[in-house]
Amino acid sequence: MAKVKTTFFCQNCGTQFAKWQGQCNACKEWNTIVEEVIQKPEKSDWKSSTSSVKRTSVPLKINEIDTTNEPRLDTFDSEFNRVLGGGIVPGSLTLLGGEPGIGKSTLLLQISLKLPYKTLYVSGEESQKQIKMRAERINPENSNCYILTETKTQNIFKQIEALQPDIVIIDSIQTLHSDYIESSSGSISQIKECTAELIKFAKETATPVLLIGHITKDGNIAGPKILEHMVDTVLQFEGDRNHVFRILRAHKNRFGSTNELGIYEMQGSGLREVSNPSEILISKKDEELSGNAIAATLEGMRPLMIEVQALVSTAVYGTPQRSATGFNAKRLNMLLAVLEKRAGFRLGAKDVFLNITGGITVDDPAIDLAVVASILSSNEDVPLQKDFCFAAEVGLSGEIRPVQRVEQRILEAEKLGFSTIFVSKYNKISLKNTLIKVQLISKIEDLVAELS
Ligand code: TYD
Ligand code: MG
Repeated sequence: MAKVKTTFFCQNCGTQFAKWQGQCNACKEWNTIVEEVIQKPEKSDWKSSTSSVKRTSVPLKINEIDTTNEPRLDTFDSEFNRVLGGGIVPGSLTLLGGEPGIGKSTLLLQISLKLPYKTLYVSGEESQKQIKMRAERINPENSNCYILTETKTQNIFKQIEALQPDIVIIDSIQTLHSDYIESSSGSISQIKECTAELIKFAKETATPVLLIGHITKDGNIAGPKILEHMVDTVLQFEGDRNHVFRILRAHKNRFGSTNELGIYEMQGSGLREVSNPSEILISKKDEELSGNAIAATLEGMRPLMIEVQALVSTAVYGTPQRSATGFNAKRLNMLLAVLEKRAGFRLGAKDVFLNITGGITVDDPAIDLAVVASILSSNEDVPLQKDFCFAAEVGLSGEIRPVQRVEQRILEAEKLGFSTIFVSKYNKISLKNTLIKVQLISKIEDLVAELS
C-alpha cells in the first residue's frame, strides 16, 4: 500500500492548501476548505499495469507539422456536429453541462443510438432498465449501443477493454469513483482523478469520450474549475425547462469555433433538431396585433429571427412597472428613457412589459430597434406590418447605430419572406438586387415617421 497523503482543497474554487484555514485566499469564501485524502499509488490510471509505452515528443518545425485535417466522427446529428466544429475528434474529451432535467442524458443517449459505431453509454445515475425505457421513446432499434451501469472507473476500464467501443459516454462525471482516491464521488479530488484517468485512456486509444457534468446553482459546472481546463471541449445545454427549445453552445472548443450554436426541440420522442429556428420562433398569425415586432438577430454565427412583444398600459399604481423576459431590464429602462426624451413619448406613467417569445434570452444589441418598435406599436395600439423586421442598436441620443454582419441578417430576412428590414444608415451594405427593401434610418424620429 502506498503512503496516504492528505491535502486541503477549497470546495468552491479548487485551490489547494498545505494546511487548513478558515478562509480561502483565492476566492475569499469562508469554511470551504476541506481535507481530502489522496493516496497516490504508482498505478493510478488506465491500463497502467500493462502500458509501458512512454511517448516522447520531439520538437518539430512549425511548417513540418502535418496539417491534414483530423478525421472526425460524424455524430449524425447536424446540430451537434455544427457545435463541435464538424464532428467528434478522435481521442478528445467533451464535457456537456446543463441544468438538471434539461435533457443532457436524452441528448447523448439519442446520439449514441443513432451512431453506427460501437458506443458504450456508462450511467452512474440511472439503471439499465430506466435507460432502456428512455431509449424506447427515442429510437428502439440499434444494436451498436451498450449500456453499463457502473461508477468505479477501474471497472469501467475493464469493461472497455473487453468491449473495445469506438466511443464512450459517461453520465455523469460527478458520479464516478476511482479506487485510488478515498474521498467520496463528486468531490474535487475524485473529479480530478477520474477525469485524468479518462483523458489518459482517450489519448492513448484515440477513443473519444463524452462526459456529462452537473452544474452548480450559479450555472457553473460543478467541481473544480480545472475540469474545464482539462477537457478539450465544454458544451453547455441550456433553455428554459418550461419551453420546448434547447440551445447547445460551445464555451470552449480546441477543435473549432465557439460561435456556433445548435437548437433542439424537446418532444415526446426525444430531441428534434431544429434546422430553421426562425420559422418556429415567429408565431404564425393571420391578424396583425399591436406590440409585436420581429428582430433579425444573430446567435453566434447563425441569423435568427426573433419575435419581441411589448405591452404598454396605463400604470395602476404610483410607480409604473417595468418587466422584461429574455431581455435586459436595465436596457429596457434605457430605451424607454430614450423614447421619452428624444421622441417625446409620455411613457413615465405607463407600465411596460416586454417578452422575447420562445423562452430565449437575447443579448445581441441589434434587437434594440425591434424593442423600440414594439413599444411604440403597443403604445399607439397600431400593429406593425407583419412583414417588417428590424436590426439596429439604439444609442442614448436616439441615434440608430450599425450592427455587425448586417448583410447576413438582411439575407435571412429576405429568405423568410420579409418585405422590409429597418437598419442603420451607417451600416456599410454592398448587397445588390435584393428583393427585400432595406430601409435606412439614422434616428428614432425616422422610425416614428416611417411607422406612422
Ligand atoms: P434528462 O435527459 O434526464 O435530463 P438531464 O440528464 O439533463 O437531467 O431529462 C430530460 C427531460 O425531458 C425529462 O424531464 C423528460 C423529458 N423528455 C421528453 O420530454 N421527451 C423524451 O423523449 C425524453 C426521453 C425525455
Ligand atoms: Mg441525466
